[in-house]
Amino acid sequence: MRAPSLVLVALVGFVASATYDGYKVYKLVPQTEVQRAYLNSLAASPDFDFWSKIDRLGNPVTVMVSPRWQRRFEGHLKVNNIDYEVVIEDVESSIEAERKYHLSQPALKSGRISFTQYQRHSAINDYLTELVKQYPSIVSLENIGQSYQKRDMVVIRISTGSSNPAKPVIFVDAGIHAREWIAPATALYLINQLVENSANRYLIENIDWIILPSANPDGYEYSWTNDRLWRKTVSPGTLCNGCDPNRNFDFHWMETGASSWECSETYAGSRAFSEVETRNLRDYILKTPNIKAYLTLHSYGQYLLYPWGYGNVLPSNWRELDDLGQKVNDAIRAVSGTRYTVGSSTQVLYAAAGASDDWAMGVAGIDLVYTIELPGGGSYGFDLPASRIQGVVVETFEGFKVYADYVLNNRK
Ligand code: ARG
Ligand code: ZN
Repeated sequence: MRAPSLVLVALVGFVASATYDGYKVYKLVPQTEVQRAYLNSLAASPDFDFWSKIDRLGNPVTVMVSPRWQRRFEGHLKVNNIDYEVVIEDVESSIEAERKYHLSQPALKSGRISFTQYQRHSAINDYLTELVKQYPSIVSLENIGQSYQKRDMVVIRISTGSSNPAKPVIFVDAGIHAREWIAPATALYLINQLVENSANRYLIENIDWIILPSANPDGYEYSWTNDRLWRKTVSPGTLCNGCDPNRNFDFHWMETGASSWECSETYAGSRAFSEVETRNLRDYILKTPNIKAYLTLHSYGQYLLYPWGYGNVLPSNWRELDDLGQKVNDAIRAVSGTRYTVGSSTQVLYAAAGASDDWAMGVAGIDLVYTIELPGGGSYGFDLPASRIQGVVVETFEGFKVYADYVLNNRK
């Protein structure tokens, strides 16, 4: 992630692994715009990793700080009158605990999935391949291109085939940010329910679903093998590798909330669409007719965000987006009480340009567009315990049904 110290581990050859020895996590409650601005000013530094969003609603902010900055940071907090609490004393031991859990899990047969553990990129693709074999009449796959390290980016199209007249399409992607593991898991569950649960047949009869469960495969794998907190792609840079794919789209690129410094977590890339992964996604969306809704899965924070994210302006259909977001929130909440905050990215969180959601609306012309920030949990938020995957994916599925209903009734 942000240039933590590198430890060389001798396996077969050398593998560089990040370690978070001595990294602490603070929980802060900024009260004023000045305090928020101070925190935002730290966000570009590799010594600070903001895990939660610095939102405009007064929610607590969770930030990981490198050992060498902790004393100065605590000093600043005191001077600025920002209350804080240390919530993790040593990030490395939390990561170790999660790693142990996954190592203790029995291996699944190829092509099988489970929602009591997270899945590697190859297991996700194996499951998709298995589905085509078992359900060739409703499932088809397309490799939309390879990642920088040559992993296949595979979309699954789920449709009963009677596409005359052309059916509206809902496009869902997950895993744009590597460490947000609950996102691919949620996409997998959506796929699983649409394909393997015949009670959901009605959802695919009049709608085609196209789902890309692993949109940044190299980053995702890197978060398994080397650095659990990796967020970006992995394309080589001079000092630091990768860029934030969600700042790399060509719509108001680099205007706000993005960094031109390659070591920043929000580095926008050397140019718009510098990354092959974002180009693959772009090309696929542009060539696919009839996409009526674009849903992009992230974590964490329980937000349903609609454009615009590049600045404090609203799209002309923002009321519709807001109403629909509220309905989705109601449906999810009815399952077990999980509440989402609905609003425009800029108004609820912060302005950040070059994200896939804004591009989907501004360039691809899709007018139902949401970034879904799924729940966090565990000790560092992105490590939602595997035991809680099931609860999240099941409740979120209720939200997908609401989107489907809406598209059916309003975008045919
Ligand atoms: N957590 C996401 C990110 O920072 C939120 C993106 C919201 N959309 C936007 N256009 N700013 O990438
Ligand atoms: Zn994200």
